Amino acid sequence: MSVFLGIDIGTSGTKTLAMRADGKILASATAEYPLSSPRPGWSEQDPEHWWQASIKTVKAVLKAGKIKPADVAGIGLSGQMHGSVFLDAKQNVIRPALLWNDQRTSDECAEIESRAGGRDKLIEMVANPALTGFTAPKILWLRNREPRNFSRVRQVLLPKDYVRFRLTGEFATEVSDASGTLLLDVRKRGWSHTLLEKLELDSALLPRVYESEEVSGQLTASSAKLLGLPAGVPVVGGGGDQAAGAVGNGIVRQGVISATMGTSGVVFAHSDEVQYDPQGRLHTFCHAVRDKWHIMGVVLSAGGSLQWYRNQLAAAEVALAKKKKVDPYELIMAQAAAAPAGSEGLFFLPYLTGERTPHADPHARAAWVGLSLRHGIPHLVRSVVEGATYAMRDSLDIIQQMQVPVKEVRLSGGGARSPFWRQVQADIYGVKTVTTNSAEGPAYGVALLAAVGTGAYRNIVEACQATIKVVDSTLPQAKARKVYDAAYPEYQQLYRSLKNDFRTIAQLVAK
Ligand code: XUL
Repeated sequence: MSVFLGIDIGTSGTKTLAMRADGKILASATAEYPLSSPRPGWSEQDPEHWWQASIKTVKAVLKAGKIKPADVAGIGLSGQMHGSVFLDAKQNVIRPALLWNDQRTSDECAEIESRAGGRDKLIEMVANPALTGFTAPKILWLRNREPRNFSRVRQVLLPKDYVRFRLTGEFATEVSDASGTLLLDVRKRGWSHTLLEKLELDSALLPRVYESEEVSGQLTASSAKLLGLPAGVPVVGGGGDQAAGAVGNGIVRQGVISATMGTSGVVFAHSDEVQYDPQGRLHTFCHAVRDKWHIMGVVLSAGGSLQWYRNQLAAAEVALAKKKKVDPYELIMAQAAAAPAGSEGLFFLPYLTGERTPHADPHARAAWVGLSLRHGIPHLVRSVVEGATYAMRDSLDIIQQMQVPVKEVRLSGGGARSPFWRQVQADIYGVKTVTTNSAEGPAYGVALLAAVGTGAYRNIVEACQATIKVVDSTLPQAKARKVYDAAYPEYQQLYRSLKNDFRTIAQLVAK
């Protein structure tokens, strides 16, 4: 049976998996690499590390899965979005890539808005506002701050597309990742020449745009040799990690939404139409499903808030868990379950690293509000879990305001592993939540896209139906839902009340 490889160029490492055409995973492997932060707020990586990790993990997967190289029928690529790889005329990397979580470009975001004729005009053009993590402000930063480097740039690539270039020799991207550059006309699924002109950027710097399942090139003889594969294996477009992860979770039709509670939290909705929030609070990107779109909200510290709690305040539980040989989160969640829904008036705002959706505020900070003598450890933990979930509801609410139907929320990430947190999510979102058999994320999604692009399935909806099944569901409980519905407006109000204080605090710290 044919085998498809999915390669996901993540921020902490690259994960590759091999999938049989019927969806069965044969093997997976990861290889880690460092991230450097040469100055506060800067975040960079060396693209060569991505390439070396890709070679290493492909070889490891072929070996572990005992896969015959001749059976590999297609490769799909996914990866961290928004990063910028700058290549010179000789196709060499000019400087380390600026990543999605790099914060150096606020001046360039303002420049883009002003050149576009204002924030509203920009959102009309590319469906999104300028955010520091996006690619376009990074290109302008290079032009403004490193003009010598900029004068050498002949090609700008996203992280996974740099790996594609090393695999196939082609300069290519696909619609979902290209949407996160801020340079794509998301409606037309091609580069926005209007915005490029306003920014005085040459469109020749950008690669060719494909649909996610389309074949974008074939393995060259030299890359095939390095990987231990035959030359000519097709490489499909693939997808940015969020769109690819959604495909891997079956979010390929209207009404099914995903809530992924990793370090950051992502609420992701498939949309048959191109729809955007005029206030720009959500991202509207092309989906990895042909001629479809997606709307997405990103909570920067969702599961990350609980990680922080575990690392800073749960030393006793971590030590006990070690003794009992259990996951510390199991003990922490049991404590949370001992407090009532709503944590008796204790709120936690989860803005430990600022926030993206809905506030787009780098100065926002976390806070417990409402502490009293009644509150103990269970309330503290439960309020963290509830605060992270309210933050996800913020995105879900905007999606619902945009008239996108929400029939079912598919949970994944750390927040889906705990039955307690699954229930809190059902109660706070107020809809049925489910989990699926698929926990492999973006690498699985792009292996499916490779299967579609090379003819194993007619389309991605058919591929997902054949491979992804709901395995567990949780319904909201009326009593808890009532408590949360009453508390949620106060959660929202707290950010508005504290917003100016967060700004003042940021100024104090900067001094
Ligand atoms: C999406 C985003 C992250 C990165 C890194 O907008 O910023 O998901 O792709 O994972």
